[in-house]
Amino acid sequence: MGVQFSVNGRSCEVAQDDRHMLVEHLRHALGLKGTRYGCGQERCGACVVLVDGAPRYACQTEVGHLQGSSVSTVEALEQSEEGRALLAAFERLQAGQCGFCLSGILVRSLAFLRTSDDGSPAAIVQALDGHLCRCGAHPRILAAVESAWQATRGAR
Ligand code: FES
Ligand code: FES
Repeated sequence: MGVQFSVNGRSCEVAQDDRHMLVEHLRHALGLKGTRYGCGQERCGACVVLVDGAPRYACQTEVGHLQGSSVSTVEALEQSEEGRALLAAFERLQAGQCGFCLSGILVRSLAFLRTSDDGSPAAIVQALDGHLCRCGAHPRILAAVESAWQATRGAR
């Protein structure tokens, strides 16, 4: 019997000795191209997905180690209130330019919205510290996350 896990609610099975990284499996086996491959060394954040609700670098996560896990990618953002709030804020504020680093930033921000009681700019900067963006959109990205936090957790 293989290793079983789910991706965005869809069941997957791989061999126990499958050494492929999750980012490869998502993009090539499942056709989920939203998760990007950047550095491959846990340094840029482009590949971040949620595994059992926690951000994880898909470039360094072997699929053979995911038994029983629930993986969520940027494609699932629209399925949750927090995800929809993020998408709306990023679009409204035109946050980001390249679309390459944004997948990981959005997924990390989703986890932030779900777990952080502190929606201050400082807390957002700390949460996104592991994500590289070289285009200069940082102020708009931070403002978008803050706006989405206010629209969800801040409104409670
Ligand atoms: S590709 Fe995974 S952190 Fe850069
Ligand atoms: S949005 Fe990708 S480099 Fe800034």
